Amino acid sequence: MDQAIDYLAPRIGARPEVGVVLGSGLGAFADELAGARTFPYGEVPGWPQSTAVGHAGKLVFGGIVGRGVAVMSGRAHLYEGHPMHKVVFGVCALARLGVRAFVFTNAAGGINLSYGQGALVLISDHINLQGTNPLLGPNDESLGPRFPDMSDAYDPEFRATAKAVGAGLGVDLPEGVYAGLLGPSYETPAEIRYLRAIGADLVGMSTVGEVIAARHMGIRCMAISCVTNMAAGILPQKINHEEVLETGARVRSTLVALLRTLIPRLEI
Ligand code: HPA
Repeated sequence: MDQAIDYLAPRIGARPEVGVVLGSGLGAFADELAGARTFPYGEVPGWPQSTAVGHAGKLVFGGIVGRGVAVMSGRAHLYEGHPMHKVVFGVCALARLGVRAFVFTNAAGGINLSYGQGALVLISDHINLQGTNPLLGPNDESLGPRFPDMSDAYDPEFRATAKAVGAGLGVDLPEGVYAGLLGPSYETPAEIRYLRAIGADLVGMSTVGEVIAARHMGIRCMAISCVTNMAAGILPQKINHEEVLETGARVRSTLVALLRTLIPRLEI
């Protein structure tokens, strides 16, 4: 981590305030930044590489309406074989570089029948079913407490701001609970019935560890899921990764517009 910070700190220009993590097929926002400085993950010492198709694997520092932003286009997932500390490496590194708020995006399967394919959903809470946690092991008291509270993990003020911005742009932003699973196999229809019964509206394979690590450090978070497909067993069709990427591509411009307007308005 120290090596990554030593590498990036002198090269990134102004300190970033907001970190943005872009999920599968959602990378376009990185091209929006003014004065962009781009670092392929492979260039930064210790930065985990993303092998998932649809993940660009680059870090972009720049500005939106005068606000310093750091974008991770592509993330490391547990299912790629990365240990949890590598999955949250980027979040921890950006925190050390000054980021005080995170906006996560991801592709998710829709469990709640009121969502349509391509819907953008504000995550209101999560259920961690990944069987692990980034805070396992000795606690670094300089970062945060041993037993951090997760009551408002997805910041209520940020969510209200996002809804207001969405309304201004004509983008409906329903809220939902995200169940984070290990993957990489998609769920079975029985698993989706179980997830619905325990209160999940969305299912995906990322985000929960990153949010836990960020909240441990007291960093405010919000997350937007793109419902790239209805979850297993809901529609009489199979789920495939191409569909996930295609839907991501279809809503890309809406998501970019939303992020571009929202990020300067987050009060941090
Ligand atoms: N399940 C899990 N993760 C996903 C899905 C899904 O249906 N779609 C996109 N990411």
